[in-house]
Amino acid sequence: MIIAPSLLSADFGKIASEACRIERAEADWIHCDVMDGTFVPNISFGPAVVKSVNQVTKIPLDVHLMCCNPEILFEAFVNAGADIMTIHVELGSKVETLLWKIRSLGIKVGLAISPPTSIDTVKPYLKSIDLLLVMTVNPGFGGQPFIHECLPKIQQVAAWRKKLGRKFHIEVDGGINDETALECASAGADVFVSGSALLGQGRLKTAVARMRRIVQHTAISASH
Ligand code: DX5
Ligand code: ZN
Repeated sequence: MIIAPSLLSADFGKIASEACRIERAEADWIHCDVMDGTFVPNISFGPAVVKSVNQVTKIPLDVHLMCCNPEILFEAFVNAGADIMTIHVELGSKVETLLWKIRSLGIKVGLAISPPTSIDTVKPYLKSIDLLLVMTVNPGFGGQPFIHECLPKIQQVAAWRKKLGRKFHIEVDGGINDETALECASAGADVFVSGSALLGQGRLKTAVARMRRIVQHTAISASH
């Protein structure tokens, strides 16, 4: 079980110390949301910020690209220290090439799906990825409520993963707090991105440990 606090909810005025706070809290990964103002109606940050975060931390950087043309910055993000890069299945016919390009850069490959998109669209790519990101809010902003209608998608992907004998991660992102993390863990998720629910906590280490305990416990009960 992996807990990945999202930098989008950090204080952008002190991004490096926020990244250190996430690492000190013993989170597993740092989730970095990159938005281009076109794929989503918001703009966040690019490789320079990821590089600053990489310079002050050692834990993996999970880069979620909400961009129409993510390939223009693939190399820049890898040089900045990205360990995983995730693109969206909504990019259509160029998805296969993009996944291959990420793989050829020597880092882990992720594919994301937004709430309105049918889960069938990811099926052809399940053999080519290390992580499937099931968005549980419409991408663009932190602090939105969890969309419960996304839970069957997680169950479907977990069933396909089992049938195919694959080991890719199932990541959830958007509106994740202790309660919704538990629902997602029961459905089969194993990576939990959380922005506002975690970073808003004064005692981040306690909050990360609590969320991890909840999802681990859920996974153990589900396997019995
Ligand atoms: C939304 C981003 C999320 C966001 C989650 O487009 O992909 O990673 O930071 O924030 P919360 O946990 O506040 O919904
Ligand atoms: Zn994200």
